Amino acid sequence: MAKKRALITGITGQDGSYLAELLLAKDYTVYGLIRRSSTFNRARIEHLYLDSMRKDAHAAPTDIKLVYGDLNDASSLNHIIQQTKPDEIYNLGAQSHVRISFDVPEFTCDVTALGALRLLEALRETGHQCRFYQASSSEMYGKVVETPQTETTPFHPRSPYACAKVFAHWITINYRESYGQFACGGILFNHESPRRGENFVTRKITRAVGRISHGLQAKLYLGNLDAKRDWGFAGDYVEAMWRMLQQDEPDDYVIATGETHSVREFLEYAFGRVNLDYQQYVEVDPKYYRPAEVDLLLGDPTKAKQKLDWSPQVTFKELVEMMVDHDLKLAEKEARDKQG
Ligand code: NAP
Ligand code: GDD
Repeated sequence: MAKKRALITGITGQDGSYLAELLLAKDYTVYGLIRRSSTFNRARIEHLYLDSMRKDAHAAPTDIKLVYGDLNDASSLNHIIQQTKPDEIYNLGAQSHVRISFDVPEFTCDVTALGALRLLEALRETGHQCRFYQASSSEMYGKVVETPQTETTPFHPRSPYACAKVFAHWITINYRESYGQFACGGILFNHESPRRGENFVTRKITRAVGRISHGLQAKLYLGNLDAKRDWGFAGDYVEAMWRMLQQDEPDDYVIATGETHSVREFLEYAFGRVNLDYQQYVEVDPKYYRPAEVDLLLGDPTKAKQKLDWSPQVTFKELVEMMVDHDLKLAEKEARDKQG
């Protein structure tokens, strides 16, 4: 049987790297859309590229291929779809930082909202048949109208990012209903890992724990410590994305742990791992406050459990420990390099 082909937008990001790993392990050929940048930004996937080359030292890498394109450039998307002919597309590309979306609202909507539309239109225009995954977000619930949040909870987005995600989510459903596109919206609650971007709160904290432990940093400046999030492990969540596209019918699913914790609790566990009291190191800087905040997210993953047979494997405590332990090693190396 021919190998399955998947196209991932956002392959250089946290989720893209875990998803590429998963699909390669399932013997897919993986195409990753990358955009040109002035500095090398493939650190999260470099190991996959090298592994692929090692499989057959005499051949060029065949299992993972990177193609230049941009979610802001419709013609590049049309071309890539015709060129790669994927069986599955995972649209993970986005300007994904909520606070920064207030600084660059138009750019955020262009990539995050219209990017999804451009991909769906490219599928319609080329007539290429394939399954489509849209990376929807719990941020869409924003000022929540019920807790826990389910697939039927109404949205009340609180940032340009969240508004863009609501558009992308609904346009995905619209193409499913209008054109019979096999398209799924995965409403994923926050998920983290040692590969999380360093300006998201969990990684900012665990990086600081590592650096403070090794005398490389004195203080950690944060914004709202009372916000509560339903935090899971990214490696578990990409499995759910794949499972959605293997169903007989396309549908939307909440992916969450069903537990919520405050930023303060994350701090307690993370600093506690190295026997430090976070209160001695953390200071609040209002510059990290958002014009409108999402106070509480808590997802109900019952549908995913029942229909996808999916459940999270990593607990909150294990996640914090995994991230702190990783960042302790990183800081240790940083300290060694500094000493020369
Ligand atoms: P991330 O680490 O910020 O990665 C974002 C990816 O999008 C990067 O590969 C980035 O490429 C790419 N990208 C940005 N602008 C692009 C453009 N114009 N054209 C093509 N690609 C572009 O995000 P993540 O945490 O992996 O999240 C993956 C997706 O899930 C995002 O859509 C995010 O909004 C959504 N989501 C995330 C969470 C979460 O908790 N992590 C929860 C719900 C939904 P560069 O490397 O070139 O910048
Ligand atoms: N980033 C950041 N930096 N957040 C802080 C800080 C800080 O210094 N201090 C407090 N916070 C609070 C934020 O105000 C927010 O309430 C919470 O920590 C989480 O912030 P982030 O880690 O930036 O994540 P997010 O919840 O805004 O968004 C993430 O999850 C969404 C899913 O709900 C992103 O990954 C989005 O792309 C994703 O859709």
